[in-house]
Amino acid sequence: MCGIIGYIGKNEALPVLLNGLKKLEYRGYDSAGVALLNGSLEVFKKLGKVSELEEFVKSKNLKGNIGIGHTRWATHGEPSDVNAHPHQSQSGIFSVVHNGIIENYSQLKNELREHGFEFQSETDTEVLANLIEYFYNQNDEVTAEIAVQLALSKVVGAYGIAVLCSREDDKLIVARRGSPLVIGLGDGEYYVASDASPVAGITSQVVYLNDNDMAIIQRNNFTLKNLENNPVSLTITNLDMKIGEMDKGEFEHYMLKEIYEQPQTIEETFKGRLNPDYPDIVLGGLINVFPRIAQAEKIVIVACGTSWHAALIAEYLFEEYARVPVEVEYASEFRYRKPVLGKTDVVIFISQSGETADTLAALRLAKELGALTLGICNVVGSSLARETEAGVFTHAGVEIGVASTKAFTAQVTVLTLFAVKLAKMKGTIGEEEYRELVRELADIPARERLILESNEHIKQIAAKYKDAVNALYLGRGMLFPVALEGALKLKEISYIHAEGYAAGEMKHGPIALIDDNLPVVVIAPRDAYYEKIMSNIQEVKARKGNVIAVITEGDTALKEMASDVIEIPRSHPAVAPLLAVVPLQLLAYHIAVMRGCNVDQPRNLAKSVTVE
Ligand code: AGP
Repeated sequence: MCGIIGYIGKNEALPVLLNGLKKLEYRGYDSAGVALLNGSLEVFKKLGKVSELEEFVKSKNLKGNIGIGHTRWATHGEPSDVNAHPHQSQSGIFSVVHNGIIENYSQLKNELREHGFEFQSETDTEVLANLIEYFYNQNDEVTAEIAVQLALSKVVGAYGIAVLCSREDDKLIVARRGSPLVIGLGDGEYYVASDASPVAGITSQVVYLNDNDMAIIQRNNFTLKNLENNPVSLTITNLDMKIGEMDKGEFEHYMLKEIYEQPQTIEETFKGRLNPDYPDIVLGGLINVFPRIAQAEKIVIVACGTSWHAALIAEYLFEEYARVPVEVEYASEFRYRKPVLGKTDVVIFISQSGETADTLAALRLAKELGALTLGICNVVGSSLARETEAGVFTHAGVEIGVASTKAFTAQVTVLTLFAVKLAKMKGTIGEEEYRELVRELADIPARERLILESNEHIKQIAAKYKDAVNALYLGRGMLFPVALEGALKLKEISYIHAEGYAAGEMKHGPIALIDDNLPVVVIAPRDAYYEKIMSNIQEVKARKGNVIAVITEGDTALKEMASDVIEIPRSHPAVAPLLAVVPLQLLAYHIAVMRGCNVDQPRNLAKSVTVE
């Protein structure tokens, strides 16, 4: 997913742009560039890291206090200098940075060619730059902002853009449809970015653009309008992101920092919601819709990736405790099929970023069908947070590592609070069971801290299996989705092929894979499935498989049986996923580091998939 930064104000723009691009690196990218407006437009862009761009522009003595910058995650056209952003229009009047996809770019490109435009790159963004210039050249009445409006009216697809015009060198024009943009309000200066991380610590006042919004930003003010040129009301949001969240501290990688943050981020998630001495779980964001939720004929949960694994855990929780039918759907499937949904149904959308294109498209479909839409999201002001009818923020803080860890456990924490509260409201659990579940949840942070003490032990296990080519993860009940999550963590940061499976499925296929080259991670706490999972372990051992077992502390039987064990504290089954996942996060992390992988920015991946 690309990153956009823009600045207009009293200071030199270049340092602001470069620092902002560094704060956006976590989104994943292959090239970077900047454009500065200082009488004329100067553009510098190249394949590679922001640090290489910084080196490249150092000797250029670039001046100007209006500028835009971009980190590119290639969609149209391979990663290269010429395909990097910013893209200029043919005459060089306009410079554009863009996050998103213009689906009708080839038709627009052909039409522009008929009007004499030539192209340097393979990108859809250069088409947009020339389309803006085309309209700008129609007559002298057309200003830069009108030209942008006219061009965007022809675009099919998603965009977040920032535009500079060398003939109107006192303004920065931004617009969005489908790809987020935020404006940071400074003192006589304005910042624009794809998300709030570059402005955290600089300003706490931000404006999130909505779809079809456009802003014309000048040094001392800005106008917000829509693409039909009508004024749009302004909502200033107070940013609760702290600058400290943006650095790694004593950790080598953001991912490790975020794994270690989980006990306190879960405590943050509890704040104002769970207090063992207080009779009720409070989910303020759902207060007005709980009656409708309690009447729901079914709950559908829609998400992608790790968030989808949280949804699978929620299915067990809601059905077991609140006795409500639950269906879990991949957003990328849900959005294209014809789901049977109506006013009596509730659809929960889970998304760390709140900007995942498939999840947002599924949300819009569910709203059209009349269902009650709820969001469980980690980013205040995100599209998902603003477009769902109600929801719960996970409060995990900024998650920089592409591989989601603390956001996942925060999602599962919220979903557990939600299921337990709903069960109590519906009377499907008694007071005693309710109080036990509340106590068990409240103990999670302390128990996770104990698990983190096994980090060195887990690192030693990682060293034994870092050269594996494949891996199998097994779990039963709510620990089956945890097996899926453990496998995803390993594959996405170490590039080892890993599969998660319901342990009961072994005999239906995966057992054919077992040999002494295949590490098999089995989540085997002392729960209702214990005997069954123990026989799965024996089946693996009988075929010379190496078993890494996540076990309840003190389980001597499994210590004997498994090749390696990682102990976790005993807990209630309803909260076991929040404990069992931590060793799997650490195992994946250490294996990836030992393999020399880019843990925080794995190849081909983006932190938020804002395109299809
Ligand atoms: C998880 O480690 C991955 N980065 C990815 O699967 C992610 O969970 C997925 O893209 C969904 O993102 P979201 O939660 O921001 O919607």
